[in-house]
Amino acid sequence: MIIVTPLILLQIVSAIIFYETHWDKVTLRLARSVAGDIAAVISLIRDEPGNQIQQRIFDLAAETMQLSVSYHEKDVLENSPNIDDDLMTRMLSRALMDTVGKPFHIDADSRSRHVIIDIQLPKGVLHVVTSRKRLFSSTTYVFVIWMVGTSLILFAVATIFMRNQVKPIRRLADAAENFGKGRDVSTFKPEGAAEVRQAALAFMAMRERIVRQIRQRTDMLAGVSHDLRTPLTRMRLQVEMLEKVSGADDLKGDIAEMEHMLEGYLAFARGEGTEQVRPTHLSSLLDTVAEQGRRKGGLIDLHIENSCEMPLRATAFKRCLTNLVDNAIRFGDHVTIRAGIRADRYEITIDDDGPGVPEDQRQNVFRPFFRVEDSRNPITGGIGLGLTIAGDVVRSHGGEIDLSDSPNGGLRVRLSMPI
Ligand SMILES: Nc1ncnc2c1ncn2[C@@H]1O[C@H](COP(=O)(O)OP(=O)(O)OP(=O)(O)O)[C@@H](O)[C@H]1O
Ligand SMILES: [Mg+2]
Repeated sequence: MIIVTPLILLQIVSAIIFYETHWDKVTLRLARSVAGDIAAVISLIRDEPGNQIQQRIFDLAAETMQLSVSYHEKDVLENSPNIDDDLMTRMLSRALMDTVGKPFHIDADSRSRHVIIDIQLPKGVLHVVTSRKRLFSSTTYVFVIWMVGTSLILFAVATIFMRNQVKPIRRLADAAENFGKGRDVSTFKPEGAAEVRQAALAFMAMRERIVRQIRQRTDMLAGVSHDLRTPLTRMRLQVEMLEKVSGADDLKGDIAEMEHMLEGYLAFARGEGTEQVRPTHLSSLLDTVAEQGRRKGGLIDLHIENSCEMPLRATAFKRCLTNLVDNAIRFGDHVTIRAGIRADRYEITIDDDGPGVPEDQRQNVFRPFFRVEDSRNPITGGIGLGLTIAGDVVRSHGGEIDLSDSPNGGLRVRLSMPI
């Protein structure tokens, strides 16, 4: 639009100026010249009567003025005015009225290359045939063709340039989107116009800052968890020896719980980021997860409609599924897992019959350490990292995760993975 609108405007303005002034003027001048020649012939034959001289004047007109003239004595011009005149006929009429001043008739249509002009003289009709070229400037069309042609070329060149300018912007948008989805954007390079490069550099600086901040936080979490593990192990060993002391079992349970928590923190901090992507059968992964869930005492129905092999970080993805199934077992009694291909994606749904998650909390439960029931009591929930890890894993595979109401009464978690 930026290019086409001014271009068309320019074309219209220049065309109007051209037609209004240049074409009108040129046509009028050409018409005047023809009318002047005719006036000269008329005045010559009036001054020099006699057939012989008249013939010589006509010959002269044919040779030097490109006018083939004949005189029809006693003829009378029919009074038929010219209607629907084009510009040339109009200008010629005007010129003839000005310079000849006698009744006339112009026939511009009956012959394609000639124009016939009849003029009423006192005793007859002067019949003049002249070439259309004498009245018509053909260069005008050349002008219009040039105008349209050059603007088409301009438009094509401008389109190519604009495309090249838009490409780096699109690349920047893609990089930002990929970064948002947690994908690798290390191959992105700033290019294009200065402003676009500036935006790209700003984006890269921002990405650096975000990555650094996340790394600092996860490093800290990993460090704390790791450091706490050693004294905890020591404590466990000491408690093992306190076999007969009352309350030792409770203490053991608490220590196991803490170890489990630290394991969760560490898994989150590590993000299983170093694992390689390998083609993996989702059905066998789901079988294992369901089996493990049953061993933990869950009632699990597994329906695999179609299996699918896709590139996955298997350990990370298994952890994701385990976290989801663990939640379903913890908060519900019956768990139903369905998996199959829907359109161009592989979908896994995990339904339970627990209390579900209120709609306004469904975004929050993906945040680290968030629990709907926020007492931190280990009986009513866990650390609050399970869904965070699951969401990260799914998104890092280019998939989507969402929560909804299950027809079984509890929560439905739906994973949708691109095939
Ligand atoms: N299937 C579910 N039914 C009801 N509420 C759920 C379900 N899954 C998750 N929630 C809610 O979302 C919260 C966050 O879940 P998340 O798995 O992240 O943490 P968690 O299960 O409490 O701890 P853990 O880190 O041990 O998994 C839970 O505390 C719970 O309130
Ligand atoms: Mg959980």
